[in-house]
Amino acid sequence: MSPSSLLLLSHFPILSLLFFSLLSPDSAAAVSSFSVSNSPWGPTNSTNLVSKNGTFSAGFRKTSSNGDSYFFGVWVTDSSDKFVVWSIFRDTPFDSTTQFSISSKGELSLTNISSNQTLWSVSANSNSSSPQLVLNDNGELQFNTWNSFNNLTDTILPNQPISKISIMEKGQFRFVNASVLLSGFNDSYYTTTAIVNLTNDGQLMLLDGTRLVASDYGKTDRLRRLTLDPNGNLQLYSLNSTSGRWRVVWQAVQELCTIRGTCGANAICVPVGSNSTQCVCPPGYKNNTGTGCTLKSKYPSSSGKFLQLDFVQFGNLSQNSTTLPPTNFAKCQSTCLQNSSCVAFSYKFTGQRDCINLFAPLYDGYWSPATETATYIRVSESETDTSNFTGMTQMIETVCPVRLSLPPPPNENKTTARNISIIVILFSLELLAGVLSFWAFLKKYSKYRDMARTFGLEYLPAGGPRRFSYAELKAATSDFSNIVGKGGYGVVYKGQLPDGRAIAVKRLRNIGGGEAEFWAEVTIIARMHHLNLVRMWGFCADKDQRMLVYEYVSNGSLDKFIFPAHTNLNENINKEEGDTNTTLLQPPRPLLDWNTRYRIALGVARAIAYLHEECLEWVLHCDIKPENILLEDDFCPKVSDFGLSKLTNKKDKVTMSKIRGTRGYMAPEWVIHREPITAKADVYSFGMVLLEIVSGRRNYEFQRELMESDEWYFPKWAFDKVYIEKKMEDIVDPRIIDEANDEAVERMVKTAIWCVQDRADSRPSMGKVAKMLEGTVEITEPPKPAIFCMPDE
Ligand SMILES: *[C@@H]1O[C@H](CO)[C@@H](O)[C@H](O)[C@H]1NC(C)=O
Ligand SMILES: *[C@@H]1O[C@H](CO)[C@@H](O)[C@H](O)[C@H]1NC(C)=O
Ligand SMILES: *[C@@H]1O[C@H](CO)[C@@H](O)[C@H](O)[C@H]1NC(C)=O
Ligand SMILES: *[C@@H]1O[C@H](CO)[C@@H](O)[C@H](O)[C@H]1NC(C)=O
Ligand SMILES: *[C@@H]1O[C@H](CO)[C@@H](O)[C@H](O)[C@H]1NC(C)=O
Ligand SMILES: *[C@@H]1O[C@H](CO)[C@@H](O)[C@H](O)[C@H]1NC(C)=O
Ligand SMILES: *[C@@H]1O[C@H](CO)[C@@H](O)[C@H](O)[C@H]1NC(C)=O
Ligand SMILES: *[C@@H]1O[C@H](CO)[C@@H](O)[C@H](O)[C@H]1NC(C)=O
Ligand SMILES: *[C@@H]1O[C@H](CO)[C@@H](O)[C@H](O)[C@H]1NC(C)=O
Ligand SMILES: *[C@@H]1O[C@H](CO)[C@@H](O)[C@H](O)[C@H]1NC(C)=O
Ligand SMILES: *[C@@H]1O[C@H](CO)[C@@H](O)[C@H](O)[C@H]1NC(C)=O
Ligand SMILES: *[C@@H]1O[C@H](CO)[C@@H](O)[C@H](O)[C@H]1NC(C)=O
Repeated sequence: MSPSSLLLLSHFPILSLLFFSLLSPDSAAAVSSFSVSNSPWGPTNSTNLVSKNGTFSAGFRKTSSNGDSYFFGVWVTDSSDKFVVWSIFRDTPFDSTTQFSISSKGELSLTNISSNQTLWSVSANSNSSSPQLVLNDNGELQFNTWNSFNNLTDTILPNQPISKISIMEKGQFRFVNASVLLSGFNDSYYTTTAIVNLTNDGQLMLLDGTRLVASDYGKTDRLRRLTLDPNGNLQLYSLNSTSGRWRVVWQAVQELCTIRGTCGANAICVPVGSNSTQCVCPPGYKNNTGTGCTLKSKYPSSSGKFLQLDFVQFGNLSQNSTTLPPTNFAKCQSTCLQNSSCVAFSYKFTGQRDCINLFAPLYDGYWSPATETATYIRVSESETDTSNFTGMTQMIETVCPVRLSLPPPPNENKTTARNISIIVILFSLELLAGVLSFWAFLKKYSKYRDMARTFGLEYLPAGGPRRFSYAELKAATSDFSNIVGKGGYGVVYKGQLPDGRAIAVKRLRNIGGGEAEFWAEVTIIARMHHLNLVRMWGFCADKDQRMLVYEYVSNGSLDKFIFPAHTNLNENINKEEGDTNTTLLQPPRPLLDWNTRYRIALGVARAIAYLHEECLEWVLHCDIKPENILLEDDFCPKVSDFGLSKLTNKKDKVTMSKIRGTRGYMAPEWVIHREPITAKADVYSFGMVLLEIVSGRRNYEFQRELMESDEWYFPKWAFDKVYIEKKMEDIVDPRIIDEANDEAVERMVKTAIWCVQDRADSRPSMGKVAKMLEGTVEITEPPKPAIFCMPDE
């Protein structure tokens, strides 16, 4: 075969064109292979090896610094930056006296001619008479059995077998076993199931069969690369061959500051825009050029004061820190003060109330609202710096509105009164001691309950929910005849108590646990009082029957007011059940105006924030959807079905999580099983509901109407409408578009887009969501929803 490229290329007119355009800027000749016949090959040759269809080139490249300094690499011909996908000696460049040669024995070697020193060599490993180095169309450099795909640098190309890769390196960052990103101190900051393959259409196939999908997934007309970037992030890029530019279509880490090792000791990483970061020193510390920050003035042991850094968290938590059991703030502070080597402490406001004492040096500090943490840094008493990290609500001062006051003693028997007085005294003592967290209260509560038991008393009396007998509820609901709804936990019946109050009785299915356990849990649910939560009045636990008694909310659920009738789930159910009661007889429902919709959104956000943050973090709702938002006569919203996940059989939890949410409202982490379910799953569902309140359509109805394509994804679509196309009116309910309260609508839409971020970490907390809706915090531009994980099919 002729080694001459010209001959070969002349068979492909388009490629010859390419060849000339390549020739002009680099003035380099192109060859299709390197063999004994055109050996040797060095930087002075100005020859490039080009793949058959021209996509990739290989050759000697000058390092960025000028002078006689080269490396050898493979790059993407059409990219404007001539991006290098594979290289050797990039970090230890050689001079122009170095060249490739193929020996008569068939060994390819890179040799320093002046010193006759072989820098690198591979043997042909075969008896081929004329071994040659070729560049394949997929970007793989091949010399008989050796190939560059097995020798990884910092980039993976489509169909490169990733499973063979053990390590990818860039500066202090490493991607190990295609599954963990690590920085200098072996600190991992991103973990995935091992990636096995990058496909041409933009999917990262994982070992367990799941896939990570690029934002331009499906397009096969573009070259892609997965690169470990100098900043430590792993990003997938697509090449626009018209402009020659790369575009990021997927990234492992969304918040760059969470990449470990970004800043030096004691420094804090702060994001600058969406793709850059900055390192700053905490107050009381000064820049110690190059090596981070040092304390300005020392404090004597067991003294000093603390400066509050809102949303700042340091380190790996396991490293040079002690996590103390949940405690109140004052205790957390004094523990740190008493330990002379404690330089700071962190306090988590997620409801966990974790107290973390930190020891020098502080590493991997970063600012992010997602931390829900404040760090208190110890400085000298005389320090005059003030903290620039502010903005977190003073949660310490937020006292839960209801919990600590008990209802007036009922006129029941003496035991009850004694019970109450014991409890009131215990609570008062606790109050004096300064209860800062309701978590602690709850802990105490169960202790008091146990104490009450050892005193020979029963559970908490009045003030807790009332216990109804089966017969009482049967009578109140006219033998369970009036179905008003049906949800994941059971059927809901309307009824009336003898005192005239209207009630909704939820008859629970599949509830595990004994009677006492049920009672205890229900007592806790019944203590969650909020204007925007449906109030629980009582329960029934007779033999196998488990029922909850709620206030009756007159106007029914939100879905009936915002969606056109045919999309109404509850009505379908009622029809199936052959039920002709209230729901179907109600008069046509009014269309909700903007102010009402806004009020509903805000009320719901506040109620969920209350569930998550103010009192009990573990009360995730898990099934937020319009059906679970009930409206009163004046359209005051009330969230229902909260706290019930606590009641379900613990054994069923695993399978439960699958059937738990409702399609269309479930956060991606419900589908990606390796991600934990946190309060942020509720935030996602709320975001979907918020978009529906604005649009008057189900999120999946939109999809059916638009039928754009399979890759259509509501959050991404909404983002594009608002921030790219700037056509927010396409989202807004067409029935009331004219009377739009633009400011409220914009706030609702933008907040919603923050809520439906794919990654739970990127979503704001529910408290923040409420504030965004209120307009008390600025709503910055959210990141574009970039990925979503496709369920296993
Ligand atoms: C490089 O230049 C040398 C000397 O001019 C020549 O023998 C060799 O064939 C050239 N190699 C390539 C790959 O162009
Ligand atoms: C090649 O050899 C010369 C002479 O010994 C030496 O000065 C030069 O540094 C060597 N280059 C490399 C890349 O080893
Ligand atoms: C270079 O070294 C090889 C063995 O290392 C030797 O066979 C060869 O003769 C040397 N060439 C020159 C020019 O010194
Ligand atoms: C290659 O050559 C070696 C000896 O040089 C011989 O033993 C071997 O059988 C040959 N292999 C093939 C595939 O021809
Ligand atoms: C060259 O081949 C690669 C791999 O087959 C393909 O992805 C690419 O689209 C081709 N490029 C051109 C310009 O045909
Ligand atoms: C891969 O490249 C490194 C240097 O860049 C070299 O040390 C190593 O031997 C290479 N491995 C293979 C399999 O070629
Ligand atoms: C990668 O995935 C594509 C598409 O599924 C497949 O054709 C290809 O063989 C895979 N490559 C590897 C190395 O697994
Ligand atoms: C590629 O770049 C061109 C020129 O900048 C632009 O017009 C085109 O929309 C881009 N294509 C894609 C798919 O982004
Ligand atoms: C960051 O993004 C801006 C615009 O979005 C872009 O111009 C800039 O090149 C990006 N910087 C990096 C380091 O990617
Ligand atoms: C310290 O100062 C240098 C140079 O001004 C700057 O590059 C670096 O980011 C600063 N570091 C911190 C932690 O402030
Ligand atoms: C805090 O901000 C003020 C004003 O922006 C600035 O002068 C001061 O240097 C900052 N302090 C720190 C510790 O960053
Ligand atoms: C932990 O702290 C000790 C001194 O208190 C220090 O010597 C050590 O390097 C620290 N460890 C890490 C991982 O930073």
